[in-house]
Amino acid sequence: MARAEKRFVCGDCGAARPRWAGRCDACGAWNSIAEEVPPTAAPRGLGEGKGRVIDFLPLDGPGGVLGRRPCGIGEIDRVVGGGFVPGSAVLLAGDPGIGKSTLLLQAAAALAGRGGRIAYISGEEGLEQIRMRAARLGLGNAPVGLAAAIDVRDIATSVADGTPPDMVVIDSIQTMYLDTLDSAPGTVAQVRGSAQELIRLAKRTGTVLVLVGHVTKEGQIAGPRVLEHMVDCVLYFEGERGHQFRIVRAIKNRFGPTDEIGVFEMTDRGLAEIPNPSSLFVDPERGPVPGAAVFAGVEGSRPVLVEIQALVAPGPAGSPRRTVVGWDAGRLAMVLAVLEARAGLRLSVCDVYLNVAGGLRITEPAADLAVAAALASSAANRALDHGAVIFGEVGLAGEVRPVSQGEARLKEAAKLGFTHALAPVPDRAQGGEAEGQGIAVRRLTHVRDLVALFPPEAGPVR
Ligand code: TYD
Ligand code: MG
Repeated sequence: MARAEKRFVCGDCGAARPRWAGRCDACGAWNSIAEEVPPTAAPRGLGEGKGRVIDFLPLDGPGGVLGRRPCGIGEIDRVVGGGFVPGSAVLLAGDPGIGKSTLLLQAAAALAGRGGRIAYISGEEGLEQIRMRAARLGLGNAPVGLAAAIDVRDIATSVADGTPPDMVVIDSIQTMYLDTLDSAPGTVAQVRGSAQELIRLAKRTGTVLVLVGHVTKEGQIAGPRVLEHMVDCVLYFEGERGHQFRIVRAIKNRFGPTDEIGVFEMTDRGLAEIPNPSSLFVDPERGPVPGAAVFAGVEGSRPVLVEIQALVAPGPAGSPRRTVVGWDAGRLAMVLAVLEARAGLRLSVCDVYLNVAGGLRITEPAADLAVAAALASSAANRALDHGAVIFGEVGLAGEVRPVSQGEARLKEAAKLGFTHALAPVPDRAQGGEAEGQGIAVRRLTHVRDLVALFPPEAGPVR
């Protein structure tokens, strides 16, 4: 018999290796590797035994159009693609304390209020604690079936018993325990094994399975990344500790668009929907300030205006500071280099701080021009007129490139009372932008034109 080899598994990405190491070479996580009991039977080839012949069926047939189950909380339904899909598995991942249990209790109560049968299973909190939270959220009377359990076998038996529920919430997958595995709850093997059983159960019964996954920095328990490939939809719950805003972002969705966001505010009565997030991230009352630029962005299917703030200050000799919150540091370095090389703005000797207001994280290249404007404005100590929004991608030659959904961006800006925009020349191949969205548009073709808007002296730039 083969000797049972030791196996060390990364709690973040699930990669297995023969020896312990401080850093996982598959995903780069530190301190995430722990010893695991290896699978007992070594995998073998198929051998001589014959399998069953599978029937191949046409693409269109019953089940082609899935009946979705919207819970009625618009921001949640939006990120899952218009409602939960029966039989699908959704992973809601986020830092501990961000509000996952609160959000799911609200979603469960909302779906139950529409006649759905819900099983809310908590492996972390006792029934009294969940009832206390429900009472605080004003949901004490919602017909949600509550249980405190961690044994996957018990859960599977209960869910398959009689009419299966419309939705099962498992809070959290890291507390679940599968008795066929030797390892403790929270290990990669347990998290994967439990999730596999629960997903199989969901597919069989047509119930919506929602798994909570804690993101862990220390790697004592397996992170949600080991599950991402198994589930149909991965939602990340984000937010800065100091801010009330919470953003649910779809990063994978087999039944809907990704990069869609749902925006919430944490209040003392739970998470409140923010159907119009632009109002959160820009303050139309604020006067002109040097270094501030309003970016007309698009998050998923929805335009969102957000203020970008820059501070450029002369730094001590040596290596200048670059601090970024809410944007990519590499992208900032590129914009700084382009401004210096193509528009003659001497920024390499300055400390630069860049911040996206409200704790939002922007990934669109369309923010380049707004970042450049915030930097140029701060460097010249000249405010951009606060009635202006900006968008556009910046290329390495300093050219301003067109971006998608220009029309939606302009419309949103006009709706919020902005009077003019700095934007790239639209791409005719994409049909361009219908002019006259109630907003005056100034077309920029090169970052030089942008920097020229900030001469050393005069009033605010229009
Ligand atoms: P919780 O849903 O328990 O987080 P998670 O399940 O992601 O660990 O929420 C925890 C935080 O939310 C906690 O710090 C208190 C806060 N909170 C409110 O601000 N208002 C509320 O109505 C509720 C229920 C929680
Ligand atoms: Mg919780």
